[in-house]
Amino acid sequence: MKPVKVGLLGLGTVGTGVVRIVEGHQEDLSSQVGSPIIIEKIAVKNTDKDRSVAVDSSKLTTDPWEVIRDPEIDVIVEVMGGIEQTKAYMLEALELGKHIVTANKDLMALHGAEILAKAHEKQCDVFYEASVAGGIPIIRTLIEGFSSDRITKIMGIVNGTTNYILTKMSQEGASYEDVLAEAQALGYAEADPTSDVEGLDAARKMAIMGTLGFRTNVELQDVTVKGISQVSKEDIQYAKRLGYEMKLLGIADREQDQVSISVQPTMVRTSHPMAAVNGVFNAVYVYGEAVGETMFYGPGAGEMPTATSIVADLVAVIKNLKLGVNGLQTIAPYKEKKLKSDDQ
Ligand code: HSE
Repeated sequence: MKPVKVGLLGLGTVGTGVVRIVEGHQEDLSSQVGSPIIIEKIAVKNTDKDRSVAVDSSKLTTDPWEVIRDPEIDVIVEVMGGIEQTKAYMLEALELGKHIVTANKDLMALHGAEILAKAHEKQCDVFYEASVAGGIPIIRTLIEGFSSDRITKIMGIVNGTTNYILTKMSQEGASYEDVLAEAQALGYAEADPTSDVEGLDAARKMAIMGTLGFRTNVELQDVTVKGISQVSKEDIQYAKRLGYEMKLLGIADREQDQVSISVQPTMVRTSHPMAAVNGVFNAVYVYGEAVGETMFYGPGAGEMPTATSIVADLVAVIKNLKLGVNGLQTIAPYKEKKLKSDDQ
């Protein structure tokens, strides 16, 4: 059977995981989609770098356009990050009729509507499960799993770095500065951890989940954001004495047709399951009028968990390709949102 050829943009931590899963699970993956899946070309920054996974050096290029414009390639997997230049790559790939799998929450939170509109026009898929909560399949859950329900609340602990910091401050009484330095040394936090600790990373993920869960067009500027840099160990110990854990909690609410979305340090009662989400783990709580309370828990980042979501998207895209259909995100434009704050 004719193989499906994939172009990979980026071979960092997550890209390496994608290669490992596509190669390591090849037999199972190809039996699901009915043909072998070949990673045909890979765009990297440096072709001579030592890598922890074996790749045929003839597949490497430093030019992403070479991957995007290769007529043999059916699907582009984007794990290089970046916003404006990456958007140009994505739009060109769609123009050429290629399907896309991306882990890029920054891109999808800022330009998702435009990219999905282009995908719709070109009848291509853009899947982005790995952009929110790493290995937890929350995007397809919001789109498909709850298509029958009316979701009224989504709460998320969706930033592993800040959850690691708050957990250590709570459990060991350590200071914010000390745990941040440790998180950087362990590679959890970025060298510039601003978007994690100031809540922007979580806000982007909440904007994506609010859009999908409430089927409206939540944008990043609709999210009220406060990070954890002002939270002291005394605040956390005081909250504990009162029976609460401090969490950087994203809360998306819908009342009638009005939505409100925020990310801020929040005292969560220790009896609530969200209070027990510790370390780099993520969790998403979803309340639907029909289903009631549900909760999803798992690794929010890292090579193999994130790659699991990416390759699951790849399988879904290839199945669609073979069936000649598109889904999930590109069916219909969402309704205009009404923000609660507009009434105040
Ligand atoms: N910086 C993010 C986090 C990585 O700490 O959760 C995954 O999006």
